[in-house]
Amino acid sequence: MRILVTGGAGFIGSHISESLANKGYEVIIYDNFSTGCEENIANIKSLNNVHIVNGDILDYDLLLKCMKNVDIVSHQAAQLEIGSAINDPLLDAKTNIEGTLNVLEAARKVGVKKIIYASSAGVYGEAIKIPQDEEHPKRPQWPYGVSKYAGELYCQQYSIFYGMKICALRYGIVYGEREWYGRVLTEFIKRVILENKPPVIFGDGNQRRDYVYVKDVVEFHNIMIEEEWDGFEVFNIGGGGSITIKELANLIIDIANKDMEPIFEDVPEGGYSNITGRWRIPKELKVLELDISKAMKKGWRPKVNLKEGIKREID
Ligand SMILES: NC(=O)c1ccc[n+]([C@@H]2O[C@H](COP(=O)([O-])OP(=O)(O)OC[C@H]3O[C@@H](n4cnc5c(N)ncnc54)[C@H](O)[C@@H]3O)[C@@H](O)[C@H]2O)c1
Repeated sequence: MRILVTGGAGFIGSHISESLANKGYEVIIYDNFSTGCEENIANIKSLNNVHIVNGDILDYDLLLKCMKNVDIVSHQAAQLEIGSAINDPLLDAKTNIEGTLNVLEAARKVGVKKIIYASSAGVYGEAIKIPQDEEHPKRPQWPYGVSKYAGELYCQQYSIFYGMKICALRYGIVYGEREWYGRVLTEFIKRVILENKPPVIFGDGNQRRDYVYVKDVVEFHNIMIEEEWDGFEVFNIGGGGSITIKELANLIIDIANKDMEPIFEDVPEGGYSNITGRWRIPKELKVLELDISKAMKKGWRPKVNLKEGIKREID
């Protein structure tokens, strides 16, 4: 079976590609290497069943060419910087909406059997019901959530019109080996482990977040590679609970075995930290916690707890 992974050289896509390649599938990694890199796929890039294409999802003709004889497409490529999306929503929409439409249209033309679309918990916006199940209202706080949700809706359309089997996986905050630097967990790790400085928390640190280990995400993805289903399906993929940012900071201090206390800094939303220079996202969510019972009905559960997963990320 041939599987094309868009964004296959990125953080999540490289773990997906690695797992599929090790299972013996023919894997085509289709990536423009904008945020992904060769190091992410170093373990698999010389395997006979792995093919690497330096291509853009905005290049429809190349996508079409690369999708010939492909059975499954895993669409992971995206623009996912929330700040970039706020500053340049058109660019965000171009990659996440137009790019997704190119993937869907090329897949339809060549008769791809299944598509797995990387969606995001960002489609929900502020939680009005905790945990948030798949039926939770979709009121994205940022353009990124809008573009990811638009991608989902197009997936649904293609499924309705053309009978294609498509599923959308709404990931919580995915972490683990090869996570890209910039988000709060990576910032805390950098401060505590590399700089021997206390983590800096924005506000009171009571914001709740749902972390899911990257290889647990891959396990669910593998289920959907092997599973058959009809039409369009959507699943939340989270860690099965949430942690406050304050708890997260203390967990990293504990893992690092350091004698320090987090610093609380009252940075306004959309402002910058005086200590780290880090930007605080506007319209920050109070709670992100996914109900994963639908995914668990497929026999999946997150196996790696946050402490173990963070240790692996630090290593
Ligand atoms: N990391 C998370 O916590 C998280 C949470 C929710 C959803 N997601 C979704 O998961 C997917 C993967 O995210 P990630 O964290 O691995 O990010 P990433 O930036 O590491 O991976 C994205 C990959 O897509 C590639 N890419 C970007 N634009 C492209 C384009 N126009 N054409 C071809 N390739 C392109 C990049 O080079 C990169 O390799 C994305 O769709 C993202 O929206 C991620």
